[in-house]
Amino acid sequence: MANSFDMVLFGGGGDLSLRKLIPALYRAFIEGGLAKGTRIFPVCRRQEDADGYLKTAQQALKTHLRDGEYNEKSWKEFSPMLRGVALDISKPDEQWDALVDLLGNDVARTRLFYLAIPPAVFGPCCENLSIKGLIHENSRVVVEKPLGYNAKTSDEINSKIAEFFPEDSIFRIDHYLGKETVQNLLALRFSNVLFEHLWDAKSIDHIQISISETVGLEGRAGFYDDTGALRDMVQNHLLQLLCLIAMESPNSMSARNIRSEKIKVLEALRPLTDNSVDENIVRGQYVAGGLGKELVPGYLEELKASNSTTETFVAIRAHIDNWRWTGVPFYLRTGKRMEKRCAEIVIQYKKVSHRVYQPEAGDVLPNRLVIRLQPEESIKLVLMAKKMDSLTMELQPVELNLTLSDTYDSFKSDAYKRLMLDAADNNSALFIHREEVAAAWAWVDPIIDHWRETNNQPQLYRAGTWGPQASNELLAENGHHWFNP
Ligand code: BG6
Repeated sequence: MANSFDMVLFGGGGDLSLRKLIPALYRAFIEGGLAKGTRIFPVCRRQEDADGYLKTAQQALKTHLRDGEYNEKSWKEFSPMLRGVALDISKPDEQWDALVDLLGNDVARTRLFYLAIPPAVFGPCCENLSIKGLIHENSRVVVEKPLGYNAKTSDEINSKIAEFFPEDSIFRIDHYLGKETVQNLLALRFSNVLFEHLWDAKSIDHIQISISETVGLEGRAGFYDDTGALRDMVQNHLLQLLCLIAMESPNSMSARNIRSEKIKVLEALRPLTDNSVDENIVRGQYVAGGLGKELVPGYLEELKASNSTTETFVAIRAHIDNWRWTGVPFYLRTGKRMEKRCAEIVIQYKKVSHRVYQPEAGDVLPNRLVIRLQPEESIKLVLMAKKMDSLTMELQPVELNLTLSDTYDSFKSDAYKRLMLDAADNNSALFIHREEVAAAWAWVDPIIDHWRETNNQPQLYRAGTWGPQASNELLAENGHHWFNP
């Protein structure tokens, strides 16, 4: 457990703080992960919001925690750690003095500045922290996407932060890396001899990484319409997952080693430019459709606009040009308003090299390793076996199934909890280095440029489906199909 620390939560009254961060801190507290003496200072713009913060936080916990997690006793113990502070992030005036006094001048004590605010104010906020003398040798800053809109703007944001914090004090969050199963993926790969020999183009036919969501715009119309699925999900979450699947074994689990392996993967991604963008990517936008029992509006209706061409779905056939992965397609897919919420990685193995059974034994299907990140966390290996109740030789697929969420019933996995505690503990293994952000944008930018230059129109798909038909056709070109959950 990290020693007690101070966390200043800029944007304390915002959506991210109330929906994710405060609940994550509460969870950390009830699981014994927050040392006594830890202090959390959510920053609000108005004094009355700061004064009423405890009420707001309590309500947020009741709303956003899972059933049975909130209880009055724990709240009574946790709430003294929280203290709202009012100040204007963009002006280093005397309002900041209260924060300066509260933090004091113990330079040995860890100080986390969590910027749950728009990236446009990252720079002024860091500058004002510096003007007020609040940055000391044990201070760290935690930031989250959107880290820019393209390589250039992302570089500007990163350079601005770097004026005030050294790279090893900057913790860039990709919350997918905090998911328990994502870390388990590393454990699976690098602590089992079983898979290492079966983790390359010789054994693997193709890989699918898919994050489907059922939600639509969720009140973020302005942001989303400027962003689209490629920037919102692929540039970060999907490429990070791809890196963890494809990277070589690091020589240790240190942040430096992991990052340098991930960067090699990003650099080996075959660029998609000009015509290869159209050949390898399907871009979609949802129209009204039935989701469960509900009829949900289309993207343009939700947006209240008639002419947006922003993509809410994207499917990509990517290749990694290196020795290990040559010829193996990596299919990436994400979309809003799809049939089910699910994040899953499917490793499809090759067929056995020679069939020894008679045709009556049935198909010999290739093995499949399925790593599900959500809604539940599980790892499943599909193997071929003999049908037990048959007197003749009949083959059938069976599943070796590890449902992690059942095994650890009382453990509430929470990506933000994990990442905040890691930041407090100065463990940056699960955070993103500036060079990774740049390498991811370098791959994504030409795709967006091509769409803009060719005035690319998204293919329409009905809400509640698995995306446009063209996405199925993309895989069919290689004789593959999506494994929809
Ligand atoms: C965020 C995106 O980064 O991830 C959202 O901005 C998306 O659009 C969200 O809904 C998905 O996260 P999760 O953990 O719910 O899959």
